[in-house]
Amino acid sequence: MSNTESAHGMWSSKLMFILAAAGSAVGLGNIWRFPYLAGENGGGVFVLAYLVCIFLIGVPILAAEILLGRAGRQSPINSMRNLARQSGTSSFWQLIGWMGALAGFMILSFYAVIAGWAMSYIVEMASGNFVGTDANRASQVFGEFTADAVSVVGWHTLFMALTIYIAARGVGRGLETTVRYLMPALFVLLLMLVFYSALATGHFKEGLMFLFSPDLDAFSTDSLLVAMGQAFFTLSLGMGAIMAYGAYMPKDTSIIGTATTIALLDTSVALLSGMIIFPLVFANGLQPSEGPGLMFITLPIAFGQMPGGQIFGALFFVLVSFAAITSSISLMEPAVAWVVEKLAVTRAKGAVLVGIIAWFVGLGSAFSFNIGADFTLLSGMTFFDTMDYLSNNILLPLGGMLIAIFAGWFLKDQIVEDELAGDKAWSNLWRVITRFVAPTGVMVVFVMTFL
Ligand code: PHE
Repeated sequence: MSNTESAHGMWSSKLMFILAAAGSAVGLGNIWRFPYLAGENGGGVFVLAYLVCIFLIGVPILAAEILLGRAGRQSPINSMRNLARQSGTSSFWQLIGWMGALAGFMILSFYAVIAGWAMSYIVEMASGNFVGTDANRASQVFGEFTADAVSVVGWHTLFMALTIYIAARGVGRGLETTVRYLMPALFVLLLMLVFYSALATGHFKEGLMFLFSPDLDAFSTDSLLVAMGQAFFTLSLGMGAIMAYGAYMPKDTSIIGTATTIALLDTSVALLSGMIIFPLVFANGLQPSEGPGLMFITLPIAFGQMPGGQIFGALFFVLVSFAAITSSISLMEPAVAWVVEKLAVTRAKGAVLVGIIAWFVGLGSAFSFNIGADFTLLSGMTFFDTMDYLSNNILLPLGGMLIAIFAGWFLKDQIVEDELAGDKAWSNLWRVITRFVAPTGVMVVFVMTFL
C-alpha cells in the first residue's frame, strides 16, 4: 500500500492536523486535572516537574508518535506491526499498540464520567442555580450532584453517545469544523476568566505564588510520578492517540515543529487554568488539595459573582465539554481504527463497539463518588482512582518510553530520515533526546517511585 495516505481518511491541511492534535491534547486534563493535581502536590514544585517532563520527555515523544503514525498510516497496532517488520525487528513492538488501546479504554471510561459532570454544569449554570453562590453552596451542590448515581450515569451516557456519534462520522467531517471554532473560543473565555481572577478576587498574587514558587518540602517522589503522568495525559501521549492522528497527517509537514506548537498550546491552557483557579481558591477559603472537585467548586463561585456569569458560566462549560469531546474521540481512535481494519466493519460500528465497552467500564468510575465510594481496589483507591492511576501514571509513561526506544533505536534510519525531512535543523537533537534522555527520564522516575 502506498504510504502517502491513510485508508481511514486524511486531515485536509497541516493546520487541521495541529487543530485536531491540539483538540486531543487540550481537554479535561488541562482545565480539570492539572489544577487539582497541582493543588494536591504542593503547587510550584509540581508545576516545575510537570514543565520539565513536558519539554524534555513529552515533546520528543510527541514527535516520535507523530512520526510513527505518519510512517505507518494505520491503526497504532498495525502501524507498529508493519514498522517493526520493515525495520527488521521483533513483532514485540506491537505491544505498544495493544497497551495503548488498553490505556485508551481505561482513560475514556473515567474521562466520559467527568465530562458528564461538566455537561451537567452547563445546565446548572444556565438555570441560575449558582447566581451569588459562595464556597459552601458550591461545594454542597457539587457533593449532591456527584452523590446522585442516576444523574451522573445519565450525563456520562449522554457524553459517551456524543463521542460515539462524532467518532462514527469520521476524521474530516464534523471534527475539523468543531475544533476550528471551538478551540479559539475556549481560549478567549479562559483569558476572560484570568482577568476576572486578576482583578476581582484580590488574591491573584497568592494564586501565582502557589503555582510558580517551588516549595521543596511539599515534594515527594510520588508527586514526581504524578507530574510525569500528567505530562503524558495532557499531551495525549503514550497510548497511540497521537500516533493514530499522525496517520492522517499530510506528508509535507514538519513533525518536530508541530509537536512543539501542540505542547506550547496545551501548556498555556493548563497554566491559564491554574491562574484562574488558585486565586479563587484562596479568595474563598478553599483548600488547594480539594481533589477532583476543585474546578467544579471554584468556577461556579466566580461565575456566580460576576455580571453575566449565568451566561458566561454556561458558555464556559459548553466549551469545556467540547474540549472534552475533541479529546475523547482521540482516546477512541486507536481502538476504532484497529477494529475497522481487523473486522472490516464500518467506522460507525467500530465506534459503537468501542464506546459501549468503555461506557460499561466507566460505570465503575461513575459509582466511585456515590454508591461505590467504599469499594476499593489498588491500595485503598476507589475504582476511579485506580483507573486513573494505572493508566496515567503507569501505562502512558511506559508506552511513551517504549515508543521513544523503538523510534530512537529500532526504527529503520531511512524511515526516520524521510519523515524528518522537514525538520533538518532539529533532527539530531531529537534523536539524542529520544534515544537517551526521554527513556532514561521515565525509567528514573519509575525507579525512584517503586524502589
Ligand atoms: N489530553 C487529553 C486531556 O488533557 C486526554 C487524553 C489523554 C486524550 C490521552 C487522548 C489520549 O484532556
